[in-house]
Amino acid sequence: MSAVLESPVSTSNLASQLRSNFHIEAFDAPLGAQVVGLDLAQPLSLSDFQRVHHAHLDHHVLVFRDQHITPQQQIDFSRRFGALQIHVLHQFQLPQHPEILIISNIVENGQPIGLGDAGHFWHSDLSYKEIPSLGSMLHAQELPEEGGDTVFANMHLAWESLPAALRHVVRGAHAEHSYLCQYEELRRRNPWRPALTQAQIDAVQPVTHPIVRVHPETGRRALFVSEHFTTRIVGLPDDESRAVLDELFAHSVRPEHLYVHRWQARDLVFWDNRSLMHLATGCPPEQRRKLFRTTIEGDAPY
Ligand code: SIN
Repeated sequence: MSAVLESPVSTSNLASQLRSNFHIEAFDAPLGAQVVGLDLAQPLSLSDFQRVHHAHLDHHVLVFRDQHITPQQQIDFSRRFGALQIHVLHQFQLPQHPEILIISNIVENGQPIGLGDAGHFWHSDLSYKEIPSLGSMLHAQELPEEGGDTVFANMHLAWESLPAALRHVVRGAHAEHSYLCQYEELRRRNPWRPALTQAQIDAVQPVTHPIVRVHPETGRRALFVSEHFTTRIVGLPDDESRAVLDELFAHSVRPEHLYVHRWQARDLVFWDNRSLMHLATGCPPEQRRKLFRTTIEGDAPY
């Protein structure tokens, strides 16, 4: 579902609806902006929420620096935008908070505490579901000295700059998305990645989505395929499908479509999965990296 806008307020809590003194600074990049002066530990008034919501639609990635928030506050802020989705790898939920997926390379007592290779391949979160994600929030808990960046690709620009011949091939076409697409390859590279139970496999059956989707809130078109989850183009022979997907993937991540996020302590980053793909660049394995992710449910792509 789309962003939840609250009903008009009574005069008794009008004071809490006054605008906070924060502003939005767009990055010198094809996407992204910083929200300066907003403390997410405080409940957001309706007018502040609306400004954040519109900035998110305009810039696709919002960065809130130095946020001292609890997991529950992250969940509460995320829920302002819609229902939350629970990740199929329940092994990596934050205890007491199943809405939070731990993204981490840390191993404690011989066990990984989180999903260490999340974002290893370009993807849009949960595109393998019938109802993929509206957006995700990552809150930095521990960061490495080196690396650990997250790169975002603007999939509106990818569509708008796609060569005419490719546009012709993909306009109106659908592609299959599967959580299992790269799963065994990731397990081969990272043996700690758990084998899926039958119940987990049943929960992630392949789905098909349009290759070009319309953003439900802005009406702008975006490419909606990724190397992590898209397996094939429906109705094309395998070799042709592979060749077209490879061209789409390569085109999507051209440098002029990218913003590289270099994490700072306690950053909270909120991105739009309907407009973007993202990739985690990784960091030296001995350096600890831990972030908390919430994932907001979106709409069926059309
Ligand atoms: C993700 O793909 O959600 C994780 C991205 C990251 O760890 O930078």
